[in-house]
Amino acid sequence: MQPYLDVFTRVVDAYLSTPRPVIQTPHINQLASQLDLELHEKGADLATLEDCLQAYLQHNPDSSQVGFFKQLYAGRNGPAVIGDWIASLSNVNMHIYQVGPVATLMEQEVIKQWCTLVGYKQGDGMIVSGGSQANLIAMMLARHKICPTLKTQGADGRRLRAYVSDQAHYSSQKAANILGLGTDNLIGVASDDQGRLCPQALSTQIQADLALGYQPFYLGLTAGTTVTGAFDPVQAGRQIADQYDLWLHIDGAWGAPVLFSPQHRHLLQHAELSDSFSWDAHKLMGVPLTAAAILVKQAGLLPASCAGGGDDYLFHPDQYAHLNLGPASLQCGRRADALKVWLSWKSLGHQGFAEKVDKLQALKDYCVKRIDTTADLHRLAPAPYLNILFQFKPANIDDEATLTALNTAICQTMAHNGGPFVDYASHKGRSGIRLILANDMTAQEDIDHFLNQCIDTGTALLTDFI
Ligand SMILES: Cc1ncc(COP(=O)(O)O)c(C=O)c1O
Repeated sequence: MQPYLDVFTRVVDAYLSTPRPVIQTPHINQLASQLDLELHEKGADLATLEDCLQAYLQHNPDSSQVGFFKQLYAGRNGPAVIGDWIASLSNVNMHIYQVGPVATLMEQEVIKQWCTLVGYKQGDGMIVSGGSQANLIAMMLARHKICPTLKTQGADGRRLRAYVSDQAHYSSQKAANILGLGTDNLIGVASDDQGRLCPQALSTQIQADLALGYQPFYLGLTAGTTVTGAFDPVQAGRQIADQYDLWLHIDGAWGAPVLFSPQHRHLLQHAELSDSFSWDAHKLMGVPLTAAAILVKQAGLLPASCAGGGDDYLFHPDQYAHLNLGPASLQCGRRADALKVWLSWKSLGHQGFAEKVDKLQALKDYCVKRIDTTADLHRLAPAPYLNILFQFKPANIDDEATLTALNTAICQTMAHNGGPFVDYASHKGRSGIRLILANDMTAQEDIDHFLNQCIDTGTALLTDFI
């Protein structure tokens, strides 16, 4: 191990001490030729491995930098990175307590804390690979509630329907596919001009579906939508869920951390009215991918829906049986992701995450003000959270197709030039630059610099578009 550790130390030291652009990935044609990717009959020496690791780090974007605005994660959470490395070093498995005793207890603690933040008094949960798996499990729990025999006997011919807003993350479509619902039976209900699910449209849709013989069973709200950061109305969702006997899930993959902040938790008030909740630690909490949780209001439903098999060799009926997390999981082998979540939480406390939310929200307010008071910038949606969707829009251009092409080109050109690295997205038929604030090392000067670069790049590109 020691020679590898020496390589590791040198590579990490060099990476952490060398400044670099946020992105310097060459075009795919050059990238492939610059990497030594081919695997051979004989193994490579240490010097080759070191070169490969350096190339890996050099040509991947650096998501720890303030110029990384592209995805719903950014920055570096030091204790979580260490936790991730130590989890690999120890390499325990989360299916049975005996092979991962400390990690199991850590997972129980973080699940307990997350449940408390959501407001679940008797809840439980499970660390999963991401919001997508959490949303899948939520839909599966909902289906198990109305069709408990489906687990063993298969579908009984009922035509089930699930509802999310038209702004919901695409993982719900994947869930409808995986669960055999059919993606046509996941209905994207209209959202209002703020991007929030419209309760009236939901009721109308459900009534129409009932008249056609469908069985509504699931309502998935989003807390922090992917493009504009909208928060769906929980209380209204609960009322409709009660009226039609629907499972109420909240996808808080992105927005859940507002619950840490006394100042901002109002964005997600009444979270406790939900039946289940998705929370990604690998988004705003800054924990390295992957780490997320499915939280369930009523303890015991996860094993009821997920358990099956493994009793012949793995889940022994011994004194540890009640501590085995495996039966309540969809996985067999499962990494000790709990460690990195727990370690960063231990290090930062609730307060550290609350401060991060508050700081980034203040930065978002600053950025919104700058956009709203700058002549050639135009915001496309309200920004209740840390997503800001806007266009570079000179006064003489009104055509949306041109603006879409121009703003896409701005993002691509800036990335080509080494940053800032930001994405584009569309909302309600209009397309713009989607700025995500997830790195709390970002300062107001970085926002000024970013917006100036958008304007300068857009201005330089203008002749290609008019
Ligand atoms: C609102 C929302 N839910 C779920 C997901 C999926 O989460 P994951 O990528 O962790 O599977 C995302 C990802 O961006 C998201 O924005």
